Amino acid sequence: METILQTIDLRKTYFPGTAQAVEALRGINLSFEKGRYYAIVGKSGCGKSTLLHLLGALDRPTGGQVLCAGEDVFSRSRRELARFRRKQIGFVFQSYNLLQEHTALENILMPLHLDGREADEEYLHQALELLDIEGLVKKFPSQLSGGEQQRVAIARALAAKPAIVLADEPTGNLDPNTSQQTLALLKDTVARLGQTLILVTHDMDVAAQAQEQIRIHQGEIVEITRRD
Ligand SMILES: Nc1ncnc2c1ncn2[C@@H]1O[C@H](COP(=O)(O)OP(=O)(O)OP(=O)(O)O)[C@@H](O)[C@H]1O
Ligand SMILES: [Mg+2]
Repeated sequence: METILQTIDLRKTYFPGTAQAVEALRGINLSFEKGRYYAIVGKSGCGKSTLLHLLGALDRPTGGQVLCAGEDVFSRSRRELARFRRKQIGFVFQSYNLLQEHTALENILMPLHLDGREADEEYLHQALELLDIEGLVKKFPSQLSGGEQQRVAIARALAAKPAIVLADEPTGNLDPNTSQQTLALLKDTVARLGQTLILVTHDMDVAAQAQEQIRIHQGEIVEITRRD
């Protein structure tokens, strides 16, 4: 197996103004293999989102390293880091974060266009088909249901063919049925496209479908369960 992402003694302490410092991550050592599906679980406030943000270089650690294909992600310049993020990482958030004044397709292509790149048409077509949103691409977010908006947000995360897809409770706003369908689509799509999926979830049934479950407690890994 090929390690795509690795953390070494990763730490994050927040210093919120005058309030007391918060040690959100206290030395995380993890290895993520190419093409596998990981679920991150644990109580509210244990550090799941913080970990995901560091893995995707949305925020900087206060200690330790994130290695992508063996290279220290945070040794890059700010500009290189932004480019790395757009090329290698796809994000899906709980709130879909779609730009309201742009159509679904414009939203989906935004990360590519920011880098002056064009979509791989065949790949994009495949992703839209898998997510069943080909017929919606000309609509604006306000004309779409929550589930449809989330599928558009997933397509946006996948558009740049990222090696790694990070999802933070991506179906937290959807009803159980739609949530299940959307997650099944996300899981199948990344599997078909050979991407690594790291998903934060509160839902134990969802977590049980992952190949690896990582449990965090107060900023530390307390359990890793492998299914195969
Ligand atoms: N920007 C911030 N400034 C200060 N403290 C923060 C900040 N972001 C998170 N924290 C704190 O760090 C800890 C971890 O937060 P984090 O958002 O990673 O938790 P989480 O596991 O994602 O929780 P949830 O399941 O509720 O989303 C919490 O104690 C939180 O209050
Ligand atoms: Mg969170």
